Formats: sequence, C-alpha cells, structure tokens
Amino acid sequence: MQLFFNHASPFSRKCRVLAVELGIEKDIDWQDVGVLSPLDSNEHLLLHNPLTKLPILRVDDQQVLCDSRVICEYFLELKGEGHRFAERELYFRDLHLQVLADGLMDAALLIRYETMFRETSQQWQAWQQKQWFRIDKVLSVVGEMTDSFERDGAGRTVLEGHFTLGQIALVCAVGYLDFRFPQYPWRKQYGALSSWLEWRSSRRSVKETIPY
Ligand code: BEZ
Repeated sequence: MQLFFNHASPFSRKCRVLAVELGIEKDIDWQDVGVLSPLDSNEHLLLHNPLTKLPILRVDDQQVLCDSRVICEYFLELKGEGHRFAERELYFRDLHLQVLADGLMDAALLIRYETMFRETSQQWQAWQQKQWFRIDKVLSVVGEMTDSFERDGAGRTVLEGHFTLGQIALVCAVGYLDFRFPQYPWRKQYGALSSWLEWRSSRRSVKETIPY
C-alpha cells in the first residue's frame, strides 16, 4: 500500500504516527508529495482524490482511501485493533477528542492559508480571530481532559502506553501550532497539556514525524 503525504501536514502526520505505533511503517510505500500551495494539485492528488487533499492511502489497484480518520481506522482494523476500547463510552470519548484535535488543525490551517497566501489587504481579520477563538476553546477543553488520558486508553491492547488515536491527533494538532505559530504562547496557559505533550514527544513515532 502507498501513502501519499506531506511532511508539514498535521493530518498526514496522524497517519504516520499511528503507522509507527502499530509497527506497520515498513509495509507502507511512503510517497512524499512535497510542498504544495492550497491552490495546487499534483498528479497523485488528482488521480486518487477528487477533493485533491492529503493524506491518501492507495491500498491496491482497486481501493483508495482518503481522509486521515478513515485511513487511521483502516490501519487499526489491519492490526485487529478496530474495536479497541473495553467500554463504549471510552471509545466515543476518544473519538470526540480526535474530532476536537482535527478541528484545531482545520482552524490552524485556515489561519495559515489566510496569512501565507493572501495579500494583507485581502485578509479577513474577523475570520482569523474566529479561528484563534476556536483554537483557544479547544485547548481549554482538551487541557481539562489530559488528567483522564491514561484511563481513556485503558482498553488498548496493541498501543502500549495507552496512546490512543484521539491523543495522537492532539499531539499532531498542537505540534502544528508549534511548527507554524511558534509565537503563540499556549503553553503558559495550558500547563498540564504542555507537560503531557512533552512526555509524549519522547516516543519514536512522534520524534520521527516532526513537521518541516
Ligand atoms: C503547511 O505548509 O503548513 C501545510 C502543508 C500541507 C498541508 C498542510 C499544511
């Protein structure tokens, strides 16, 4: 199987971290599509995803999967980890965490596109402020959740150390903030989240996928 990804993309990173955690990275033919502006497509994106978005998993000649959530579910199923939480409630809590982290990534990407690719005179300040508001709200909610992370992952069998998909998404989301908005002082306000990220950053999967 081939995975089309970009080193800067937090959604691609989610799939890459999970692949390392599951020990399947050697089964994947990694296809770095390089740097793309949001207005660009390349032949792979056009061929495999009508939405022209990364990441894309080309399972074989017959099957292509798009969207990080779908690709991550595929990886988990592949390793027999599809029904991975002993309790239904914990599964949905982790799914909720993943949705919040994905939303943070979306908001950060919108700000990045607005500031990088539009003339200053064309930038919509209120729109950017709305995205920052979302980011701050998500950080405040997930910051409160960090205490329960160990318990939430208790149903896992393969992912040692209870590193759940929601938590992986969160590492990628705040990692993207640090990468593209290093001046944003979220650590000062969300100390517990910052300590948790520090702790998770020692994992090989996280170290080997640092965005650039
Ligand atoms: C970035 O350069 O920030 C970026 C590139 C591709 C996808 C997402 C983000």
